[in-house]
Amino acid sequence: MNMRLFLSPPHMSGKEQQYIAEVFQSNYIAPLGAFVNRFEESIKTYTGTSNALALSSATAGLHLALRVLGVGAGDYVLASSFTFIGSVNAIVYQNAHPIFVDSDESWNISPELLKVAIQKAPKKPKALIITHLYGQVCKLDEIVALCKEEGIWLIEDAAESLGASYRDRQSGTFGDMAVYSFNGNKILTTSGGGMLVSENEAWMAKARFLSTQAKEDTLHYEHKEIGYNYRLSNVLAAIGVAQMEVLDERVKRRREIFALYKKILGENEEIAFMPELENSRGNRWLTTLTFAKTNPKKIIHALEESNIESRPLWKPMHLQPLFAEALCVQDGTSQGLFEQGICLPSGSSMSGEDVVRVCEMIQKELV
Ligand SMILES: Cc1ncc(COP(=O)(O)O)c(C=O)c1O
Repeated sequence: MNMRLFLSPPHMSGKEQQYIAEVFQSNYIAPLGAFVNRFEESIKTYTGTSNALALSSATAGLHLALRVLGVGAGDYVLASSFTFIGSVNAIVYQNAHPIFVDSDESWNISPELLKVAIQKAPKKPKALIITHLYGQVCKLDEIVALCKEEGIWLIEDAAESLGASYRDRQSGTFGDMAVYSFNGNKILTTSGGGMLVSENEAWMAKARFLSTQAKEDTLHYEHKEIGYNYRLSNVLAAIGVAQMEVLDERVKRRREIFALYKKILGENEEIAFMPELENSRGNRWLTTLTFAKTNPKKIIHALEESNIESRPLWKPMHLQPLFAEALCVQDGTSQGLFEQGICLPSGSSMSGEDVVRVCEMIQKELV
């Protein structure tokens, strides 16, 4: 049996162990330490944001963002329906209500349906969380303008889109706040971790305070509000610093893998790849496509028999049993994508031969 071909396995730069050794030499495996600062600085430099906060996960970052922006019990928060649950869990943590909005032909949130959702909301939504799905950016011009016009905070879930850009600006720099994820399957990984970014210094100072148990600035332990233990360890930040050094290479390789899949499979009328918006450059975190006729489950099972991991596209939030009662504005788009779509192995360490092998197996299974 061939070695398992994973969807998106970690890909080390080679510097990780050296930096981790430095952490141990300094004995700053805890609490925070120099690598946490370096990791934050590297994100600031790469993305062009002024403030960054290294956290244990992107989910934690979204929770802090909602807290800082004043979203609380009974508030409404608009969100992309076609996403991973980590994008919206924090709405529930805050006892607020999600309003899910369907996708359009971009596969990302539809600005038109967003307008409908704002009209239909029982009261004015406080915030919107958009996901740049699979590393491809949303229609940011329309969304940013709409949020400004309506007075709704914009939070970018850039968990999957580190290194993607729109009009030459990095994803995660368009909203009021944004998160990146360094979870195990992302374009870069710290095994687990996240980063919150924003231009607003006061919000970021508040997020920093809340992320370390909301301890007041006193000698003893004084607390006036509830906080969290959400900071990233210095050991994991050392991995992050090493990973950031190769981000451009990783984006380049993921885009090459996408291009090769497209070259081999793109002629087939059965197959449609996730589009890339004009004026944008996605990181192609995962190569994703839909089949017009073939059932994707058949392909997933066939690939699995050859020890190749592939997955259905995200099941939209408005179809999740957990959110059966939640408000949503949908027109069947993301449901169709979920039923017809697939994520293919896309790791930056995969070879061209691997891509060819996956394509040949898919071609054999097509209706
Ligand atoms: C779109 C999206 N949002 C949020 C998350 C949550 O990130 P984390 O695992 O760092 O909490 C993920 C992935 O894990 C994701 O893909």
